[in-house]
Parts: sequence; structure tokens; C-alpha cells
Amino acid sequence: MEIVLTGIKPTGTSHIGNYFGAIKQAIEFSKNSNYLSMFFIADYHSLNTIKDPELFQRYTYEIAATWLACGLDPNKVVFYKQSDVPEVFELNWILNNVTPKGLLNRAHAYKAKVEENKNNNLDADSGINMGLFCYPVLMAADILIMNANKIPVGQDQKQHIEIAKEIARYFNNAFGSCFTVPEEFIPDSVGTVIGLDGRKMSKSYNNTINLFGSEKLLKSQINKIVTNSQTPEEPKDTNCSIFKIFSLFANLQQLEEMKIKFAQGIGWGEVKKITFEVANTFIAPMREKYNYYINNKSEIDKILEAGAIKARKIAEETMLKVKKLIGKI
Ligand code: ADP
Ligand code: TRP
Repeated sequence: MEIVLTGIKPTGTSHIGNYFGAIKQAIEFSKNSNYLSMFFIADYHSLNTIKDPELFQRYTYEIAATWLACGLDPNKVVFYKQSDVPEVFELNWILNNVTPKGLLNRAHAYKAKVEENKNNNLDADSGINMGLFCYPVLMAADILIMNANKIPVGQDQKQHIEIAKEIARYFNNAFGSCFTVPEEFIPDSVGTVIGLDGRKMSKSYNNTINLFGSEKLLKSQINKIVTNSQTPEEPKDTNCSIFKIFSLFANLQQLEEMKIKFAQGIGWGEVKKITFEVANTFIAPMREKYNYYINNKSEIDKILEAGAIKARKIAEETMLKVKKLIGKI
């Protein structure tokens, strides 16, 4: 059976852009019984930016609770934490030794940081740690150790998958056929969710609507969506942030009703009130599950431990092959 694998970096609290742009599709895809789905929390990847032990733990639990609340079925999907599969880090080292440094010099995240340093008249490597530089090798280890075939990712991760393919080929050429060369899977239906200020919604822009904040927070974030200064009576263009955000949550009938209200004239305050109600109705059942998991972290632990046992079984088999090929056994 083909393996579909993806990693989720726990670097912050999930927002509705993450839900509509990534989580929803991945969970839908995991229901396809032609594939074995493996979803893992890339916690050691996040060490790159998270240097606070409390946050490190909090984000990991939050991400796990988010995916479970959004419908990930741990009986169907192998759901685990990267750091619970130590074989990944052993393979990471071995892969380092077949990876040309030049390949990593070309990685976007590293190159962007070097450029930024140059523009600021700093040393080219200022503020760059080996975790950032070697990030793509760890990602290759995540993928190759599970012999994954398809990797669903956003466009921004395409280059990382290309690098993982290269590394698989380098190893196979050096030591003999071992790794499946994976394929990226970039669903084209994924549109960009707009943030409160009209730019792409992103944690780094501080313009997000939290997926599982309180009702009060949801209301106040929706109230912050930027609108123009038209009076309530004026007909309104649906090509605006609030309408786009409303559409994510609305059913067809609600959408049609809102379009009519826009054409006839409606106050922005009223639009925001309706958007909150529709969004809250959509989110509430998932939020309840989310809160359950956050208040019962031992359940999350149990689920992730069971997932790690399954993942390690595959990882151990791969490592056996790798160790034979390099001559360790
Ligand atoms: P952020 O930009 O907030 O840091 P991440 O980089 O952690 O978000 O993204 C996690 C996943 O969510 C990725 O697959 C990414 O493509 C998706 N995603 C993030 N923001 C959006 C958005 N505004 N619209 C659609 N998808 C998004
Ligand atoms: N780098 C990915 C991101 O930032 C997360 C990730 C880590 C990943 N390892 C992976 C994704 C393996 C797919 C496969 O979103």
C-alpha cells in the first residue's frame, strides 16, 4: 500500500488559514483507504525557532489536539511525534554524509537569511544555526525512513521535497537501492486564506483568526477585519476580506442571503455579527473536542505513543536495511 506522509511543525497556535489551507484537505485525504496515512508532529524541527521549553510542549499538545479535533482518526492514521522515533535522527546523520553541502546552500530558507544578513551589512552566517542549515536533511530522514510515496505539502515546501528526492538518489547510488524516491503532492484547490488586514493570513503577520480560541476571542478577531468606510445603505462589493472569510464558513443558502444583503446595502457591523455566528456554529463542535483533549493531555500522550510504536516498526525495518548497506551489520 502506498504511504502518504506529512509533518506538521508545532510553532504556534493554529488559525483558520491552517485549517482551510492544510488540515481539512489532509484529513479528507486520510480517509482514502487506498493509502496508509502517516501524520507526525515535527517537534524537533520546531526547535529551530522555539527555544522555550514550556512553549515547545504547549504547541505540541495544541497541534495534536487540533488535528484530533478536526477529525483525524488515530485508528486509521499513524499519528506520532517525530522525537518519539529516534531512528529518524540516526538516519539523519547517515544522510548528512551523502548530502553535498552545495545542495543545502541553495535551500530557500537558508539563502533568504543569508541575503537578509548581506542587506543588513552583517556577516553572511549571522544568526544562522546548523538546525536551519540542515533542516532539509532532517526532513528527508522523516520521509525516507517511512518509505513514503506521496508527501502532501504547501507550495512553500516544494523545494524541501526536491532535496529529499536528491538525497534518496545520492544514498541509493552510493550504497545500493534502499529508499523510495518520494513525490510531492500539492493540492491545487488550496487557496490562500486572507487575514484581518487583507494580506495572507499568517502567524508571522499577526493577522490571524485563531481556530480554537474562545468565542469571545473569535468575536473580537472577526470585529478587527479591516473594512472600508462605506455607509450601511451603500451596496457593497463582495470582493473584500470579510466576505471572503464569511464564505469559508457559510453554506450555500447563507452565501446567497449574504450576497443579496451586500447588493441591497448592509452595515459592516451587521456583516461581522453574522460572520461570527456562522463561524462559531461551524467551529463549536470541533472546539468542544479540542478543549476535551487539551484538558485530557494523557489521552493525547496515549494516542501519540501508540502511533510511535507503529511508526518505529517501519523505521526499524528501514534502518536494518540501511545498516546492512553501510556495513554496520
Ligand atoms: P503560518 O504562515 O501562519 O506560520 P504555517 O507556515 O505554519 O503558517 O502553515 C502551516 C500550513 O498551513 C501550511 O501547509 C500552509 O500552506 C497552510 N497555510 C498557512 N497559512 C495559510 C493561508 N493563509 N491560507 C492557506 N493555507 C495556509
Ligand atoms: N517543513 C515542514 C513545514 O515547515 C514540516 C515537515 C517536517 C514536513 N518534516 C516533514 C512536511 C516531512 C512533510 C514531510 O511545514
